[in-house]
Amino acid sequence: MIVAETPRLRIRHFTAADSQFTLQLLNDASFINNIADRGVRNEHDALQYLVEGPIKSYQTYGYGLYLVEHVESAESMGMCGLIYRQDLQETDIGFAFLPQFCGQGYATEAAKAVIHYGYHKLQLPRIVGLTSAANINSINLLSKLGLQFEKTVMLPAQQQSVMLFS
Ligand SMILES: CC(C)(COP(=O)(O)OP(=O)(O)OC[C@H]1O[C@@H](n2cnc3c(N)ncnc32)[C@H](O)[C@@H]1OP(=O)(O)O)[C@@H](O)C(=O)NCCC(=O)NCCS
Repeated sequence: MIVAETPRLRIRHFTAADSQFTLQLLNDASFINNIADRGVRNEHDALQYLVEGPIKSYQTYGYGLYLVEHVESAESMGMCGLIYRQDLQETDIGFAFLPQFCGQGYATEAAKAVIHYGYHKLQLPRIVGLTSAANINSINLLSKLGLQFEKTVMLPAQQQSVMLFS
């Protein structure tokens, strides 16, 4: 299912066919250092992650993390989407791109489309951004989306305190 298209990008639901790309993205150093090590080490793990993560989220909440691909070549570039945080009772925007697709404005282009989708199609009342204080690229992106620092929150599942932008 296609969620949105922008001049350069198509944003769509993940499927089981995206496990090879997911394996690559989740093992990129910037993903592991800035988000988490999801322990995905082979295509089977990646498929399990997709089924229990994004695909389950579509079924449970009606949204989740989406795959971002080039609109013409259909090359997979990254992920961007909406994550429901049960412990905070908030929906946050998440994003991660392979290094060769960073620094070209793709993440901002995808995130703007996802926020538009969240407010206008899903009718969500509020979308926040969560990031560690050290993640300058993420903070920069959230600022370009018009989000501002609101407070520091604790994520019990990760046992980590993060900055919440709204
Ligand atoms: C966070 C992340 C997605 C940001 O990606 P990014 O490519 O730096 O973000 P953007 O899409 O905003 O692009 C940034 C730069 O592209 C440049 N750029 C080049 N061509 C551009 C274009 N056509 N349009 C817009 N910007 C363009 C801009 O100069 C911009 O930098 P600036 O804002 O300092 O001017 C990326 O660093 C990443 O994947 N990190 C690992 C995962 C992660 O940390 N996720 C967040 C967890 S909270």
